Amino acid sequence: MKKIKIDINKALEIISKEQIYAQAKKVQQCIETLHSGTGKGNDFLGWLSLPSSITEDEIVDIENTAQNLRTSCEVVVVVGIGGSYLGAKAVIDALTGSFEQFSTDKKNPLIVYAGHNIGEDYLYELTSFLKNKKFGIINISKSGTTTEPALAFRILKKELEATLGKAESKKRIIAITDKSRGALCSLAQQEGYKTFVIPDNVGGRFSVLTPVGLLPIAVAGINIRQLIQGAADMEKNTGVEIPFADNIAAIYAATRNELYKSGKKIEILANFHPKFHFVSEWWKQLYGESEGKEHKGIFNASVDFTTDLHSMGQWIQEGERSIFETVISVANPNHKMEVPTDEKDLDGLNFLAGKRVDYVNKMAELGTLLAHVDGGVPNIKIEIPQLNEYHLGQLLYFFEKACAISGYLLEVNPFDQPGVEAYKKNMFALLNKPGFEEESKAIKTKL
Ligand code: PA5
Repeated sequence: MKKIKIDINKALEIISKEQIYAQAKKVQQCIETLHSGTGKGNDFLGWLSLPSSITEDEIVDIENTAQNLRTSCEVVVVVGIGGSYLGAKAVIDALTGSFEQFSTDKKNPLIVYAGHNIGEDYLYELTSFLKNKKFGIINISKSGTTTEPALAFRILKKELEATLGKAESKKRIIAITDKSRGALCSLAQQEGYKTFVIPDNVGGRFSVLTPVGLLPIAVAGINIRQLIQGAADMEKNTGVEIPFADNIAAIYAATRNELYKSGKKIEILANFHPKFHFVSEWWKQLYGESEGKEHKGIFNASVDFTTDLHSMGQWIQEGERSIFETVISVANPNHKMEVPTDEKDLDGLNFLAGKRVDYVNKMAELGTLLAHVDGGVPNIKIEIPQLNEYHLGQLLYFFEKACAISGYLLEVNPFDQPGVEAYKKNMFALLNKPGFEEESKAIKTKL
């Protein structure tokens, strides 16, 4: 099976290869710390061995539950926020036909999302859309207490029960949460929903290869076995015994960390295939929540090229030189399309006639890379052989592993997110949530 490759040659203007390789020992220590479970956040390392430790029974349970939803629903609403929905959306968007939702001959239920915002119009429009449709709900919250998904679920549950009645709607609601704690856990137990457990030692943003990601992905008709296989192969290829030079997660972590130390504070993840948009959103959450703490950490941004070459492209080429770019490059597209010949050639494109559209895209990619490097933007290239389940599985695990190593290089705990609490505390105080009386009084003095 082909592997994902990393190319750091175009990142070597500001930092040298020697500098990166000088990090090998430190990186190896970080990997050993991860694998021995002796570092910061060591109670959240379950994700490390998820791909190799998932059992056949667990996979079958997910597949069967997915099949039930696939046969009973036209639409499945995935309720969750942050790590509880981004992994599923990243994979589903990447591996689903761009126009499948508009097809009259649908093979898979439509997957839509809720609980990742508190937009009243969004929820109104969603419930209007669901009227007279056979829909189901996958409600995901590790803590089981997050406001956004809890609010959306309350509304959607009412809608479903209003049409189907309590007993029937139960068959179309799945809860994915902690094994014993949180409001969602007790609600699921009391209502008798089919439940999947998010392991205690797996944090939200590292949970895509648990039922959190796998169930919605399977409902969308995507082969989760190949996804897991890709991740399992990457687990092996980035293991503790793999030498630095052969470990792409180690090289990526060391390179971005050296770039950061040299003053490149912003990493832009770029792609040349629109289906990667939400892979970048997932990546931003993974790295942003893992590294951005103690007033340290690379700021993560993303662009979709060539689309954004006509917007953020200007800034990247000539704005403040505080950025580096990581490009996800796909070696081979899944479909073939050639530029047609045109008799009149009024658009002047006949010089491309007979060429693959992907060839044009690749030249845009290369041209952009060279222009950005010339403009002072170091470039890391991550090449995936083809966009499919197997290689996406590799990519997800690669980014997770590199993220954990990067966090340890930065000497932060990559597995907590204390900063997320600040807005919640203020929101609860402003909403006069019981238990927040003191905070409510205090915050009112600031208004
Ligand atoms: O990565 C994380 O831990 C967070 O982004 C969570 O996934 C997010 O806050 C949602 O939390 P929960 O699943 O507890 O509702």
